[in-house]
Amino acid sequence: MFSAVEVIATKRDGRRLTDDQIDWVLAAYTRGDVADEQMAALAMAILLQGMDGGETARWTQAMIDSGEVLSFSGVGRPLVDKHSTGGVGDKITLPLAPLVAACGAAVPQLSGRGLGHTGGTLDKLESILGWRASLTLEEITAQLADVGAVICATTPTLAPADRKLYALRDVTGTVESIPLIASSIMSKKIAEGTGGLVLDVKVGSGAFMKTAPRARELAETMVRIGGAHGLATTALITDMSVPLGRAVGNALEVAESVEVLRGGGPADVVALTVALAREMLALAGVSDVDPAAVLASGAAYPVWERMIAAQGGDPSAPLPAATHVEAVVADRSGVVDVDALSVGVAAWRLGAGRARKEDAVQAAAGVLLLVEPGDQVVAGQPLLELHTDTPDAVAGARAALAQGLVVSEDPKPRPTLLHATIRP
Ligand code: URA
Repeated sequence: MFSAVEVIATKRDGRRLTDDQIDWVLAAYTRGDVADEQMAALAMAILLQGMDGGETARWTQAMIDSGEVLSFSGVGRPLVDKHSTGGVGDKITLPLAPLVAACGAAVPQLSGRGLGHTGGTLDKLESILGWRASLTLEEITAQLADVGAVICATTPTLAPADRKLYALRDVTGTVESIPLIASSIMSKKIAEGTGGLVLDVKVGSGAFMKTAPRARELAETMVRIGGAHGLATTALITDMSVPLGRAVGNALEVAESVEVLRGGGPADVVALTVALAREMLALAGVSDVDPAAVLASGAAYPVWERMIAAQGGDPSAPLPAATHVEAVVADRSGVVDVDALSVGVAAWRLGAGRARKEDAVQAAAGVLLLVEPGDQVVAGQPLLELHTDTPDAVAGARAALAQGLVVSEDPKPRPTLLHATIRP
């Protein structure tokens, strides 16, 4: 038996938490025997003092042990999943899951909703008429066996300690701790029962991790946790200083994903989808299929249609369109620069994202880029469109773009998409 105050004081004073202290505090917090204010103090102590590799692995295990571990052994294909730390216009899961399924593996993607300026995968898919995020375990298993890809809401039984702790961290300024982020993400993915995991760790203004050293540290920490739990894990560190693709916002991103699945779409979205698919297929042991060729041929599109239809969605229904669309034009001639965070905040203010967990999102709201960073433009040329059902939101979106959508005479080189690959 431990005391919460002693556990907090151990970390506050810069000492290591023992395995027993970690197991106890997370189990007691999940049961409600450790109070929110005590856990908040411990989270702050961890944020300030850190946790070493051993503590982080044990913290992850204790969060896994707080709930159920899923097993999809009857699926008949190798299982592999992907997780992105989130970015502006990051719709990659949408084309990626059907692509990897079309190549012969199965993708059990249990996903969350968006908070803040990065969009949530479920919010995007919910813009499709009839599509349902919540599935039973039986439905997930059947769809994995039949279609090979499921994107659905995570179940409440998966790592409940993380669910409670993440909500607490969100309101206590303790999200930005690398050991807490890494254990939060990895506990959910390990409990999900996937056989391999590819992480897309974003770096840049629109990402959680703003700098390359922080992104690398997070990626390495998660790859190490995967190794410690017997989950083959690879991480790509990819750019998030400019938006990914041209569409930012729920239905707009679904439309762009469909373009990619039909063999078209923006080059950066295609390149990242293929890079992640290659890593996923390597972990799944599928070596005889070229995902670039499969994507370009449009062969992943029928898998998308089946994946959407299996969850009640109508893949051929028109997507919602905003009632108000207006353009932002270039105030001068020159080379355009587009900052990811500014576009993310603009889309969020237009209604594409939520400020609090319980807020609703507008399916049709967002930003559609009409040019790419680095393009030469002339004064008066439309640079992007603002889409919303609430025109009052436009002034806030324009304000967000004031510093981040700039036309100048000195072009910045377009950042490299793939910064690094971290393997075990
Ligand atoms: N995403 C998560 O799932 N957990 C974190 O702590 C941060 C991002």
